[in-house]
Formats: sequence, structure tokens, C-alpha cells
Amino acid sequence: MKTYKIAVIAGDGIGPEVIDEGVKVLKKIAQLDGGFAFEFTHFPWGCDYYAQHGEMMPKDGIEILSAFDAIFLGAVGKPGVPDHISLWDLLLKIRKSFDQYVNLRPVKLLKGAPCPLKDVREEDIDMIFVRENSEGEYAGSGSWLYKGKPNEVVIQDGVFSRVGCERIIRYAFELAKQEGKSLTSISKGNALNYSMVFWDQIFAEISKEYPEVETHSYLVDAASMFMIKDPKRFEIVVTSNLFGDILTDLGAAIAGGMGLAAGANINPERKFPSMFEPIHGSAPDIAGQGKANPLATVWSASQMLDFFGYPQWGKVLIDCIEQVLCEGKVLTADLGGNSSTGQVGDEIISKLEERNC
Ligand code: NAD
Ligand code: IPM
Ligand code: MN
Repeated sequence: MKTYKIAVIAGDGIGPEVIDEGVKVLKKIAQLDGGFAFEFTHFPWGCDYYAQHGEMMPKDGIEILSAFDAIFLGAVGKPGVPDHISLWDLLLKIRKSFDQYVNLRPVKLLKGAPCPLKDVREEDIDMIFVRENSEGEYAGSGSWLYKGKPNEVVIQDGVFSRVGCERIIRYAFELAKQEGKSLTSISKGNALNYSMVFWDQIFAEISKEYPEVETHSYLVDAASMFMIKDPKRFEIVVTSNLFGDILTDLGAAIAGGMGLAAGANINPERKFPSMFEPIHGSAPDIAGQGKANPLATVWSASQMLDFFGYPQWGKVLIDCIEQVLCEGKVLTADLGGNSSTGQVGDEIISKLEERNC
């Protein structure tokens, strides 16, 4: 029987609360299927680990993780540890070290999910963001000169390589072709006169290889407006690291909230493990109270199942989430309910069990 080795980094704040439910759900699916199994190994890395050891993960953390088939991550960040340290030394380090250059983020209004927009049907919000996840504005290149002096200067470089732009744009075209959907590129060439002009040029070049794919190109400011005013314009979307970060929180807001927004950090060549996570953070405002919505994490578990070649199970999980949303009886407070994180996880489990009777 195939056993998938999963490294679990529950992390900080609500991370452990939501990841518990994700693990529970994956175990149940393996049990129901009977043809594969998961072996979970938990790593206590994160801000509490940092407080004890002075580092977010051990020096050989990346080497340890490289032996796994996938990583399941909760959230990272805790007041008291500077965010740029906690995130750069754990989450971003993993994305970069494992060349997880594709960040796949569905922005899809599930049946029963609340939407703040008026006159919008479920099918109007059905996008997949393909966010560049390895370079761009997140390259980590820059300098801090004359620190603390009156002439202090900081420089944060955006790094857009030809290889980096081509591979993410090509991935998005392949996805659009496979799904029979249009592809929209979001950039900002009018102001970012090197990086985004280059991005647009590469998008135009690669689009010639895919004459069957309908393409659109928007400036990021207009795209933000259209995501609210006319979301059905967008199907597959490709964009840079920072724009993808911002637009997918906006996407979460129109598709049920942060508690329903999932993401997969993929190394398409499968040379390194990919990482699955909710896109929300550690939510210190609700941490430790059993209030966190675990459905984003469950959705990311569904992405993991797709990735391992079980799209039928990925779909079953989405159906279960929709059932729970439509019934509206067992929901966390962000979705207007009064159930706990664990109760919502249990409800997904019982939907899975019911389907199998
Ligand atoms: P956040 O996503 O943690 O929280 C934003 C708001 O959404 C909060 O009101 C929170 O209560 C709510 N929320 C988020 N997830 C929820 C869930 N599952 N259920 C119900 N409500 C939920 O963003 P933030 O407050 O800007 O960041 C908090 C910390 O998390 C910071 O340290 C930040 O750097 C970090 N962060 C980490 C990740 C990650 O690990 N992937 C992502 C984003 C932010
Ligand atoms: C996300 C997060 C991260 C990002 C942060 C925590 C570094 O906001 O996954 O969306 O910006 O990529
Ligand atoms: Mn984000």
C-alpha cells in the first residue's frame, strides 16, 4: 500500500487548531479509501520554538523536510517575534528552498458560502490564482544603508528573472488550456517600468504558443476593482508574488472569508516536497479559543489529494465542505455560527462517513 509521508508544521496561533482538523480529515479519507495511507510526522517549529532555541527551525530543517512527500502547514507568526524573522526563517525559507514556485490559490464561491457582493451567483466567482512564489517582490534582495542616521536609505529590489517569469506564465497557460478557461495576467507595467514591462512582454511571447487560450491583461489597480465589480471576468489568473498575495486576500473576502481560503505551494517538477496550507495567518486575535474556521485547511487537504493523484477524493472533500456550508448548522463564528473548530472538523468527518454508507 502506498504510504505518503507528511511533515506537519502546525506553527503558531490558530495553526495547531486548524491543522488538527486537517490531519483528522486526511486520516479518515485514507481509511475510507483503503488503498493508501498517510504517515504524519509533527515538527514543533515556529515562534515558541524560536523563543526556546533562538531559531524557527533547526539548521538541518530543510534537509529533514526533504525526505517527505509533502508538508502540511498551519500558520506562522506570533506577537513578540518580528514577522520578517518568523516568516523568512520558516514559511518563506521552505517555499524558496524547495523551489515551490507555483502558489495555486482557488478563489471560488462554494455553495452555501457567504458573499458580500450583491447580485453575484456562485458560478460568477470561480477563479484559480497562479501566484509566482519564488522571486519578484519577495526576492529578499536589498540593503539598509546608514541605519538609524538622518540619511538612512532602504532599498528593496524586485527580482524578475526570465526563467522565473517564463515558468510561472507557462504553468498558467498549461492550466488554462487543460481547463478550457481564459487566462488573465495581472501586472503594473505603467509604473513598474522594468519588472512589469518585462512580465508583460513574456506573457505576450508565451501566449503565441497557446493560440487556443483566450487571454486578458489587466493593471493590478483595475483588476482589484473588477474583482469586486465583475468577478466573472476572471478564470485562471497569473500574477506576481506580491500582487498574488494581496489579491488572494481580496479573493478570500468575496468567497467566504479567510476561513475558507486555501493554497498549495507546488514544485511542479516534484524534485522537492510541495506544501499545503490555508492562506490565512496565525490570527492571534482568536488563537487558543477554538474559534478558528478549519475549512481553509480542509480545502488545502483537498489540494493535497489532487496533487497525489486522487482528484476524486479532492472533490469529495469540497462536496463535504459545501454540504456543511449549505446546512449551516455547524459553522464557526466567522461564518455566523457558534460551533468550535473541532466541531466543524467532526462535521466534515461525519459527512465523509455518510457518503460512504
Ligand atoms: P490573519 O490571516 O492571521 O488574520 C486576519 C483576520 O482574519 C483576523 O481577524 C483573524 O481572526 C481572521 N482569520 C484568519 N484566519 C481565520 C480562520 N481560520 N477562522 C476565522 N477567522 C480567521 O492575518 P494577520 O492578522 O495580518 O496576521 C497575523 C499573523 O500571521 C502575523 O504574524 C502574520 O505575519 C502571520 N501570517 C502568516 C501566514 C502564514 O503562515 N501562511 C499568512 C498570513 C499572515
Ligand atoms: C501568505 C502570507 C505570506 C505571504 C506571508 C506570511 C509571508 O501572507 O501566504 O499569503 O505573503 O506570502
Ligand atoms: Mn497573504
